[in-house]
Amino acid sequence: MKDLFDKIYKDKGPLGKWASQAEGYFVFPKLEGEIANRMKFRGNDVITWSINDYLGLANHPEVRKVDAEAAQQYGSAYPMGARMMSGHTSLHEQLQNELAEFVDKEATYLLNFGYQGMVSTVDALVSKDDIIVYDVDSHACIIDGVRLHMGKRFTFKHNDMESLEKNLDRATKMAEQTGGGILVISEGVFGMRGEQGKLKEIVALKKKYNFRLFVDDAHGFGTLGETGAGAGQEQGIQDDIDVYFATFAKSMASTGAFIAADKEIIDYLKYNLRSQMFAKSLQMQLVVGALKRLDMLRTMPELKQNLWKIVNALQSGLKDRGFDIGNTSSCVTPVYLKGSIPEAMALVKDLRENHGIFCSIVVYPVIPKGLILLRMIPTASHTLEDVEETLNAFDAIRDRLENGTYKRLSAAVSAAMGE
Ligand SMILES: Cc1ncc(COP(=O)(O)O)c(C=O)c1O
Repeated sequence: MKDLFDKIYKDKGPLGKWASQAEGYFVFPKLEGEIANRMKFRGNDVITWSINDYLGLANHPEVRKVDAEAAQQYGSAYPMGARMMSGHTSLHEQLQNELAEFVDKEATYLLNFGYQGMVSTVDALVSKDDIIVYDVDSHACIIDGVRLHMGKRFTFKHNDMESLEKNLDRATKMAEQTGGGILVISEGVFGMRGEQGKLKEIVALKKKYNFRLFVDDAHGFGTLGETGAGAGQEQGIQDDIDVYFATFAKSMASTGAFIAADKEIIDYLKYNLRSQMFAKSLQMQLVVGALKRLDMLRTMPELKQNLWKIVNALQSGLKDRGFDIGNTSSCVTPVYLKGSIPEAMALVKDLRENHGIFCSIVVYPVIPKGLILLRMIPTASHTLEDVEETLNAFDAIRDRLENGTYKRLSAAVSAAMGE
């Protein structure tokens, strides 16, 4: 009989196998200093393009003050227990009410972490007779929620309405047999490539098919729509999103999340979300901090304007210089280059060491083999000088990628490692 750990000793998984070359540098890097447009990486100053602090709130003096005062007043324990048992407070309720107003829904319910909350929301919305139809590029938290589902599920091709219709046809026939309903899941913004989910087109299909729509708007909340209410507001269909989700981990620069829907749906969910019913309530520091951040989202439209000034400068600068930024329609800014994983490593090293630019690198299996995706997150705390410096650095690395410098460098490293 095999030892359970045999497979772990043999195979670290598609990402884990790079650990010896990548850990501490490409993965699990340590960015030091206050969260800002410029931080330190291995002792060097770098412009940080990989932190989801869209509105620059993480280190805003007013936010820091409220966070510190809340920590002083409540500590990190209060309240103790799950919401249902002993962890409920008036401030949790107030935050829910204010969030509901902000995203224009009847009610909301707080989640301790977006990921777990999403998993449980998917789980709670369906029973075994129901069918889930979801975008194949969905975030891991959606996929894990779907994994809990005891009934049928279909994926549709990413943002492809023809494929969605085909799967809705199948799902409708199946639901007629099982006596269940259909849940469609998409995202407001797909966080890797920055495309908005085609929510308007999905909603239009409600005329033809009977389904409910659940949208994960982690990257849209605070960044899209006239008042920052997200991708649904941006596309003019917020009312037709049946269940809306956003996290505090991005625009709100904090921890926690929420779901929003009609009151009756939220009333059901709050008694059925297992990850919330059996877990400690969102701590008060985070609730008070979220109330402050939400107030700033409401009253300081300049935060979003500053963000978009940087987004537009970065994206148009990249396009003008001939870079491929795909089909982004959000702040998420991908740059696609052609190259192998070792070349990508040499390129990112050059960016960090010689140009002081820190951005995330995404390679196969997240994207197809032979492509390198440099993913950048512009924020309101970046400056136009940061953008200019970055664009110049990108010109330089593209030249070196094309003239084979990174291929030679990566071959030398591979040879030194005996590969
Ligand atoms: C699309 C999406 N959904 C959900 C989450 C999970 O949210 P949280 O970090 O609050 O667990 C993330 C990442 O933060 C995300 O990018």
